Amino acid sequence: MKLVLANWKMYKNLEEINSFEKEFKKNLKNVDSPCSHGVAVPSIYLIQAKKIFNEQTKIYAQDVFFKKEGAYTGNISYSMLLDTGICGSIIGHSERRQMFNETDETVNLKTISLVENNLEAIVCVGETLKEYESGKSFEVVFNQTINALKNVSSKHLSKIVLAYEPVWAIGTGKVANAIDINQMIKKLRTKLNSIIGELQSKNLKILYGGSVKSENADEFFKQENIDGALVGSAALNPIEFVKLIEIGGKY
Ligand code: PGA
Repeated sequence: MKLVLANWKMYKNLEEINSFEKEFKKNLKNVDSPCSHGVAVPSIYLIQAKKIFNEQTKIYAQDVFFKKEGAYTGNISYSMLLDTGICGSIIGHSERRQMFNETDETVNLKTISLVENNLEAIVCVGETLKEYESGKSFEVVFNQTINALKNVSSKHLSKIVLAYEPVWAIGTGKVANAIDINQMIKKLRTKLNSIIGELQSKNLKILYGGSVKSENADEFFKQENIDGALVGSAALNPIEFVKLIEIGGKY
């Protein structure tokens, strides 16, 4: 059974969230075994989204700050997520790394603040097109991963979901090859064995993200090392999102 997470980015207003949910619920009813799934919504709608969706659909933030509280204008804290019953957050999405100065160090601090407070961290890693073309993909992804996991106690690793999202495949329609992605994740797990432990590395959930849609989801989900998908544009459509959840439930 795979995990399908939607990343809505800075899309949808309240009315659109309500109509998405209606259509989503209607279609999900016909799915025999839906896989685990969740939606990362813009922070202003977190509380409402939590009320609108039923419990089966987990609600995530798209970013969170690592301090409990303080003079950090514009941020929301992990303790605010806890307070409002939100289950966790995406951390280190490439759009945040590229446009909002997210660094490996802040990704690490944010990840620790979430998991130590019983919240889930969906940690995104991935190489840029330039890094991909110069053959540095593995090195970049491995370094981002170990930096994100630094000082995370092994008892908290089950709260982490890694999302491998090659930057060149995000929102571009350029889909990565599923076999290559599987190989990449396999190699990553093997390298992680000696760092976090063999069992922990085997159990670490690793998703693929980048132009996933219902037409190509099977390709990814049938790969042994890919535990699911983080989906942007396709998941803005409730019917597409249900299809992905249905496909994820087959594996
Ligand atoms: P995409 O986005 O599915 O639109 O490529 C994925 C993501 O940004 O997480």
